[in-house]
Amino acid sequence: MISTALLGFGIVGSGTAEVLTRNQALIESRIGDSFRIRYILDLREFPDSPFAPLIVHDFNTILNDPEISVVAEMMGGSHPAYDFTKALLMAGKSVVTSNKEVVANFGTELLQIARENGVHYLFEASVGGGIPIISPLRKDFSSNRITAISGILNGTTNYILTRMKNEGAAFDDVLRDAQRLGYAERNPAADVEGLDAARKTVILAAMAFGKRLDPNAIHCEGITNITPEDCAYAESAGYAIKLIGHTSLMDGRVVAMVSPRAVRADNPIYGVNDVFNGILVEADMVGKVMFYGPGAGKLPTASAVAADMIEIMSGRTVDAAEWTDAGTDDIADFDGYVCRSLLTFDVPKEQAAGLRAVFGASDYFTGRNGKHTFVTKPMSEAETLARIASAGFPLVSRIRVLD
Ligand code: HSE
Repeated sequence: MISTALLGFGIVGSGTAEVLTRNQALIESRIGDSFRIRYILDLREFPDSPFAPLIVHDFNTILNDPEISVVAEMMGGSHPAYDFTKALLMAGKSVVTSNKEVVANFGTELLQIARENGVHYLFEASVGGGIPIISPLRKDFSSNRITAISGILNGTTNYILTRMKNEGAAFDDVLRDAQRLGYAERNPAADVEGLDAARKTVILAAMAFGKRLDPNAIHCEGITNITPEDCAYAESAGYAIKLIGHTSLMDGRVVAMVSPRAVRADNPIYGVNDVFNGILVEADMVGKVMFYGPGAGKLPTASAVAADMIEIMSGRTVDAAEWTDAGTDDIADFDGYVCRSLLTFDVPKEQAAGLRAVFGASDYFTGRNGKHTFVTKPMSEAETLARIASAGFPLVSRIRVLD
């Protein structure tokens, strides 16, 4: 009998208890052993829950119980989640987590501590909700060099952007719906300002390139400045606006960034709507591989947490390759990042040719409500900003294109 414990009985924690209980017989047949949830740590009482007898309030009850070998941390936030995780790993207990904040901030150290103590630290649920993405990166790309990963990594913002595009819905109303559905973070600023996607991008970059960047230091723009008009300008040019996390190598240095991107209809990411996430991995041997599925929500995220627990309970764990914290020399200069941009200028019709003089030939050029929207050729950040400044017309919107 394997004894497990859950830290946190919120949306993901209660979902994990449900997944493990509802599919217990199936899971036990797969791991070849029986298991139980021995404790659930939470500050609150849950008198009406069938799991009420398992609730404990003192972390030491779990830490000091030698029978507990696998713990799922679903508390959210850096502290005390990080401190509890560290103590558990040092006590020889494996930890799995959905907590992207802890993995992105402290993953290098926690993986190292797990290795030193002969236990495991797995975090499938930290990226992409219910989509298997960390596990494939741990195992199935091992014959490849990964060159880039781009994707929709936040369900809340994708849900908001989809409804803004389809219904012209107001930002605040849709955000409230996302909170009600259990997609949003406790503080939804992390979703809409891009930090949640930045943490996930940092985790993917570390999985791909072995370097962990500081999630608070990478280029990060959310969707708070995106208006229904921006969506309409993009749509008129055949694009949809998506919040994209991207990582790649530039001259051997890691680029990691989050920003709204214009995605053309022929890109598989274009059709990723609502709470779904879509992650495109590019690798030298296999080419492009797309991962798609529910990016947030109770049971999808819990399914990923449970999968990590099952992997450890089965005794067949493949650990993530070692990470190191990125130094200045490992990080690409963002000014040099090259992409095309979808630009909208407010420019009188008779002067629109002036834009062509500054930006050269463009993919698309149209007048809409007196505005002019077009796609530039690929240019570095620095060059794009310099040309915008020299255009001499008010810029209404700039959205980087995801090619
Ligand atoms: N708030 C996150 C999202 C939850 O919307 O994607 C899943 O990580």
